[in-house]
Amino acid sequence: MVTSTFQKPTSRSSNTPAATPHSIAVHPLTGHIGAEIEGVNLKEPLHPIVLEELKAALLKWKVVFFRDQPLSHEEHVAFAKAFGEPTVGHPVFGFVEGYPQIYSVARDRLKGRAEGEQVIRPWTGFHTDVTAAVNPPAASILRGVIVPPYGGDTIWTNLAEAYKTLSAPLRSFVDTLRGVHSFRAPEGQTATADFIEKNKRRPLISEHPLVRVIPETGERVLFVSPSFLKSISGLSPRESQHLLELLFEHVSRPEFTVRFRWHANSIAFWDNRTTSHLAPRDIFSLEFDRQLYRITLRGEVPVGVDGKPSTSIEGDPVDAYSPENVH
Ligand code: SIN
Repeated sequence: MVTSTFQKPTSRSSNTPAATPHSIAVHPLTGHIGAEIEGVNLKEPLHPIVLEELKAALLKWKVVFFRDQPLSHEEHVAFAKAFGEPTVGHPVFGFVEGYPQIYSVARDRLKGRAEGEQVIRPWTGFHTDVTAAVNPPAASILRGVIVPPYGGDTIWTNLAEAYKTLSAPLRSFVDTLRGVHSFRAPEGQTATADFIEKNKRRPLISEHPLVRVIPETGERVLFVSPSFLKSISGLSPRESQHLLELLFEHVSRPEFTVRFRWHANSIAFWDNRTTSHLAPRDIFSLEFDRQLYRITLRGEVPVGVDGKPSTSIEGDPVDAYSPENVH
C-alpha cells in the first residue's frame, strides 16, 4: 500500500484570517527551491496550525531552513516526530551513541570508506539520502552544531523542476525507466574492508522508477540520486552511462538549486523524495571542524508513473526506529 508522508495542506476557508497568532513567515530564497522559516520556536511542541504550515512550506519549497534553534538531541528527535517516524540514524553507517535515531554528519565521516582517486564530475557528491533502500527516507532534518566560519555550505536541487524542464520526448522515455541504486564505492575508488563489512551486514540494493509520483501532490520527480544510482535497467552499459550522465548533469543545473550557509543552530529540513543534495567538499582543504546531526523520517516505497512500486534487490525496508530493529 502506498502511504503519504506529509498530508496535503488543508486550504483555509475564505472567512478564516490568513494570519493567526500561530502563523509562520516563509521567505523563499530562490525561484524554485528553498525557503527560510521565521516565527517558530522548535524547542516547543508545534501548534497544529504551524505544523500544517510547515508541511505545506516543505511540499512547496522542498527544503526549509531555520536559524537560531539551539536544540538538544532530545529536542531534535521530538521535533522530527511531529512529522513522521524517525528511522535508526543510518541503516548501514550507524548512529550517535545513546541516540539511536541520530546520525553524526562529521567532517571526516566518509574517510575510511573507500580508497583511491575518485573521479570528480560536476554532479559528484550529489545524492538523495539512502536510496539504496527500497523505501528511502521521506525527509531529513539536519542540525548544525559546529560550523566553519566560512566554507561548508550545502546545496539542494529540486528534482520536480528538473523533471519538468526535460523535453517532452525525453520525459516520456524516462517515465518508462527504472534504475538500480546501491552504496557501491564511488567511481575510481575501492571500498575498504570496513565499508564492505558494513554493507555485508546490512546489504541494501534497490530498483526504483526513474520518475516517481508524489502521492500528496501528483508531482512527477526525476528520482536520480547521482552518488547511488548505478545503472538503468534494460539499457546496455554504454546507453545507461550516457543517459545517466545527461540526467545527472541536468539535475545539478544551478537554476534548480539553493545553497545554504550554515551557522551554529541552523536547521535544514528537506523533502528527500523531491530533492538531491551536495555535501560540501571545500571543508577538506580547510582546517575547521564541522559537526552536524541528522534525523531521517521513514519513507514510503516510491511508485512510478505506471503505478509500479520500487523493488528490493537486497535488504529489508528501513523501519521506524525501535529498540528491536537496531543492528
Ligand atoms: C548529508 O548528506 O545529509 C549531509 C550534508 C552536509 O554535510 O552538508
